[in-house]
Amino acid sequence: MNLLEVLRNRFQIVLENKVDDPSRYIAMVLPAQNAQFGDYQANCAMPLSKVLGKPPREIAADMIAEVDVSDLCEPPEIAGPGFINLKLKTDLLEQEFAEVFTSERLGVEAVKSPEKIVIDYSSPNVAKPMHVGHLRSTVIGDALYKILSFLGHDLTSDNHIGDWGTQFGMILYGYRNFVDQEAYEKEPVAELSRLYRLVNKLSEYHTTVETLPGLEWKLSETEQAVNAAEAEFEQDDKQGKKQLKKLRSDLESIRQSVTKAESLIAEIEQDEIYGPLAAAHPNIHTDARLETSKLHAGDAENRKLWDEFLPACLDVMNVIYNRLHINFDYSLGESFYQPQLADVVEELKTKGLAEESQKAMCVFLPDFKAPFIVQKQDGAFTYATTDLATIRYRVEKLEATSILYVVDARQGEHFQMLFGTARRWGYENLNLQHVSFGTVMGQDGKPFKTRSGDTVGLGDLLDEAISRALAIITSNDEAKPNGPELDETERKQIAEIVGLGGIKYADLHHNRESDYIFDWDKMLSMTGDTATYMQYAYARVCGIFRKADVERKDIRQRDDVPIRLAHEAERALGLQLLRFSEALSATAQDLKPNLLTNYLFETANSFSTFYDRCPVAKENDEAVRISRLKLCDVTARTLKQGLNLLGIETSERM
Ligand code: ARG
Repeated sequence: MNLLEVLRNRFQIVLENKVDDPSRYIAMVLPAQNAQFGDYQANCAMPLSKVLGKPPREIAADMIAEVDVSDLCEPPEIAGPGFINLKLKTDLLEQEFAEVFTSERLGVEAVKSPEKIVIDYSSPNVAKPMHVGHLRSTVIGDALYKILSFLGHDLTSDNHIGDWGTQFGMILYGYRNFVDQEAYEKEPVAELSRLYRLVNKLSEYHTTVETLPGLEWKLSETEQAVNAAEAEFEQDDKQGKKQLKKLRSDLESIRQSVTKAESLIAEIEQDEIYGPLAAAHPNIHTDARLETSKLHAGDAENRKLWDEFLPACLDVMNVIYNRLHINFDYSLGESFYQPQLADVVEELKTKGLAEESQKAMCVFLPDFKAPFIVQKQDGAFTYATTDLATIRYRVEKLEATSILYVVDARQGEHFQMLFGTARRWGYENLNLQHVSFGTVMGQDGKPFKTRSGDTVGLGDLLDEAISRALAIITSNDEAKPNGPELDETERKQIAEIVGLGGIKYADLHHNRESDYIFDWDKMLSMTGDTATYMQYAYARVCGIFRKADVERKDIRQRDDVPIRLAHEAERALGLQLLRFSEALSATAQDLKPNLLTNYLFETANSFSTFYDRCPVAKENDEAVRISRLKLCDVTARTLKQGLNLLGIETSERM
C-alpha cells in the first residue's frame, strides 16, 4: 500500500467539499520532516484560510472532524498555526509490514493504467569520442527504464545513434588525406577519431579565418556606437542608460569572440604540425561538408567507406555498454530514418505546416523567433527532420503513447520546437518529454575533460573507477582485525561493482537538472550519500545473518512469529521500508532518480540507527530476535532492489 496515496485520498474527499480544485491542497499532505510532528502532515489549512475566510486552526479543526482516518491514524493533532499532524497506528504498520515481508515486489503495486513508453537515451554520435555527457544520459536513461518497468509500464529503449551527421564528412576527408594505414588496421576507431579531431580542428581554423573580418567589422561598428552613445549620454536619461549598458555588453561579447578567434588562428599557425597542414588544405571546411553531402546523396564510394567505418564504431560503443551492463531494445540510428525524410517534409508541406523561407523549408512556431528548419537551402535534411520521422515511426511501429528523451539540457530549445511541431502535425495526444540534464563539470568548474584536453575516454574512466575501488577495498580489508577475509578474485569482483556503482550513483544522486562536479574521492567515499556506503550497508545486513547463523530463507518461513515495531527505532525503520512504493511513485512522477537515491540513503541511515540501538543476533527473546531479523531481511531486499533499479549491483560480502 502506498501510505501517502491512501492518506491523500482520504483528504481529497474532505477537500472536494471545500474547494473547486483541491489538487493543490491534496499535494500538501506530505511526509513529516521531523518525527516529532508525527509520520505525515497536512499543511493545507494555512493557504485555505484565505480562500475560505476562516482562521487556519479552525479549518484544521473542521478537517480533523470530517476526515475519516480512524482506521489508519491515531487521533490527528493540530500544531502551531494549523498544521495537522498524522501518526499512523503502529498495529497498522505491523500489518502492512507483514504484507511487504511476504511480497516479492516489496509491496509495490503495478500502476493501474500502464503506458507504452519509448525512452531515447545514450544516443552518442559515432566516430566522435563518446563523452561523460553521453554517460550521464545512459545512466539516467537506464535507471528510468528499470524503474518505470518495475512499476508496470511497457518500456522500449531506443538508442538514437548519431551515425549520419557531418562528422562522417570529416572522417571521409580525413581518411582520404591523412590516414595512417597501420594505425587504422590496428585500432580503426582510435584512428578515425584522430582523423575526426584533426579535420575538425583544421576546418575550424579556416572557418574562423573567414569569419574574422566580419567580426572585426562588427567590433569597430559597435565601438563607434558606444562612443556616440557615451557622448550623448545624459545623467538622468534612464532609457539612454539602459541602451548604453546593452551596447557595452554587446561590445564586450564581440571583443571576446574576436580574441578567441585570434588566439585560435595563432595557435594553429604556430603549431608545427597543424600549421603546415592548414596551409596545405585551404578548402578543408567546405570539402568536408561536400563529402557529407555526397554520402547523403548516395555516392557509392562514400557509402562503401561508411559501411566499413560504422561496424567498428558500434563495436567500440558496445564494449562500454557491455561493461555497464546496458542493453537496448532498439538502436535505430539517424541513418535508419534517411529514406523517410523526404516524405516527412512533403507531409508537413501538405498540412501547411512547413513553408519556404530563404530557400529553406521551415516550420514557424508561435513562441519561437527562429524557424524549425526541416530542409536546408542545399536540400539537406536536418537533425530536426530526423527527429520528426523518429516520432512518426515510434508511434506507428512501436505504438508509443509516450516518448521520453534523456538528453543534455543544452538541447532544450530543439525539443520544445520538435514537440510543438509534432503536436501540430497530429500527435497532440502523445506525451513527449525532454528529460533534460546538466553538465558534468571538472574540479576547475569547466566541463569535465582530461589533461590532454579531450573529453575523457569513457573506457579509461571506468578502469580508473575500478582500480580506485580495488585500492579502497584492499585497504579496508586489511584494516579488519582478523586480516584480509576476501580472496583476490572476490576483491576484484567487488571492485567492479563498487567502481561502476560509484560512477553511476554519482550521476544519479544529483538532481538531474543541475550541473555537478566530478569528484573521485566523494564518489567512492564509504560514508555519505554514495553507492559505496549503500553497498556496505547491504553487505552489513547480510553479515548479520551470517553472524546469527541463520538463513534468510528460513526467516521468511517464520509466519509463526509476528513482526513487532515496539521500539522507536524499529518503528522508524519499519515505516521507512513501507515507503518504498511511495518513493518509486515520486521518482516516476518527476522522472528524477535522485528521489530514489534519497530514499535509499535514508533507509540505510534508518537501518544504522536501528542497528545501533536494537540488538539483533544477541537478542535473547527469540520472538524479538526473529522480528528484528525480518526487519533486516526487508532492509536488505529493499536496498538491493532499489540499487538494482538504478543499475547498481550489490555483493553480500565486502
Ligand atoms: N546524438 C545526439 C547528441 O549526441 C543526441 C540525440 C538525442 N536523441 C534525439 N532523438 N535527438 O547530441
